[in-house]
Amino acid sequence: MQFPGDFVWGVATSAYQIEGAAKADGRGESIWDRFSYTPGKVVNGENGDAACDHYHRYEEDLRLMASLGIRSYRFSFAWPRIFPDGTGQVNSKGMDFYRRLIEQLALYGIKPAATLYHWDLPQTLQDKGGWLNRDTAYQFADYAEALYREFGSEIPLWITHNEPWCAAFLGHATGDHAPGLKDKPASVKASHHLLLSHGLAVQAFRAVAPASARVGITLNLAPVYAASESEADQAAARRQDGFQNRWFLDPLYRGAYPADMVAYYSQWGPLDYIQPGDLEVIAAPTDFLGVNYYSRSVVKDTPASEYLQLDGVPPTAPLTDMGWEITPECLTDLLVRVKKDYGDFPIYITENGAAFPDKVNDSGEIDDSPRIAFLRGHFKSALKAIELGVRLKGYYVWSFMDNFEWAHGYTKRFGLVYVDYATQRRIPKKSALWYRDVIARNGL
Ligand code: FCB
Repeated sequence: MQFPGDFVWGVATSAYQIEGAAKADGRGESIWDRFSYTPGKVVNGENGDAACDHYHRYEEDLRLMASLGIRSYRFSFAWPRIFPDGTGQVNSKGMDFYRRLIEQLALYGIKPAATLYHWDLPQTLQDKGGWLNRDTAYQFADYAEALYREFGSEIPLWITHNEPWCAAFLGHATGDHAPGLKDKPASVKASHHLLLSHGLAVQAFRAVAPASARVGITLNLAPVYAASESEADQAAARRQDGFQNRWFLDPLYRGAYPADMVAYYSQWGPLDYIQPGDLEVIAAPTDFLGVNYYSRSVVKDTPASEYLQLDGVPPTAPLTDMGWEITPECLTDLLVRVKKDYGDFPIYITENGAAFPDKVNDSGEIDDSPRIAFLRGHFKSALKAIELGVRLKGYYVWSFMDNFEWAHGYTKRFGLVYVDYATQRRIPKKSALWYRDVIARNGL
């Protein structure tokens, strides 16, 4: 099973999850520092202070990446390293770290793919309302512009936001993520300002980045299936699709929020923060879509669950250590649907992977065969989507190495590479060696 010759095989990480060095070289506080220091928010009270200490060990990490034949590395910039207060004066030491990282990637011929926002908003901006404050969108565009000016010619692929759905709804409605609000109307407002900030950052990109560079956004999309034929379940599935997928895809690709969801959210109060002209900004043409895919969503209408992941449907597929159903075939459905409903543009899988309770065995190895089976299944579905005409250009496995899995702390291991946090020793798992062979053969 061969992939197209120019297919990009990559791995992904994000700043707060791996860098550590939380107070080094003038880095400012982020909402994830604050959140993880708040008792009860993260399992075992863990935080990203040390994480994988990638800030100091990036040379070793990139050497390992190169030895596996990885072609592209998706990482994120930590906004509070660049602007410790969110705006104002650039922290040159923060810039220098990424300069060193990008230089070493170039040495190995690994193409950087950079995410501007992977959830670590500077706390000073949160103190002024964070994503509930429209100004944050403009500050994001300024931050983005500073990075385009610095690294525009070195980074071919730029991603404005990672999963604005999570930032908006897990951050402001369920409270599972920073900043930990539990306020549904606020979460919708946050989603609008996140999208607006994306559009503004795309405008800034067109103004200052070299023409050869590409910009897009990464969404966590899930194909939604109704649990039954019943009208109520079908309606619930449609709503879940609106909540998870269409609320983001429609404004980006059609320049309008979906009418059914506007009506739905308006029950909680007017959406009067959507100002004239905002949707034109949000719909500014991009060069690709990043898709993070983990699982499907099966939906049953239950009175208890108003609009978040509608519960009451027992999983039928095998589960990962996150309790997420393993449903590789649904990836094909998802990609084909995006093409059919939103257009024939280039897509990258910017994240896909699985957590399993990996253990180092007596010979010092990690036999993570379930992860190999997981990835094999998803690669096959990706190839099927390509055969069906989807312009899928690349695939970034989440994650290069085990790391801080947000509210789950260090209890969930997603890496191709095992991290022994006590010693910071890295051990490539069986899946890393398998992935190396997939890349070398450009297929399965
Ligand atoms: C995604 C996040 C990523 C990681 C994976 C497991 O939602 O973008 O940081 O936590 O899930």
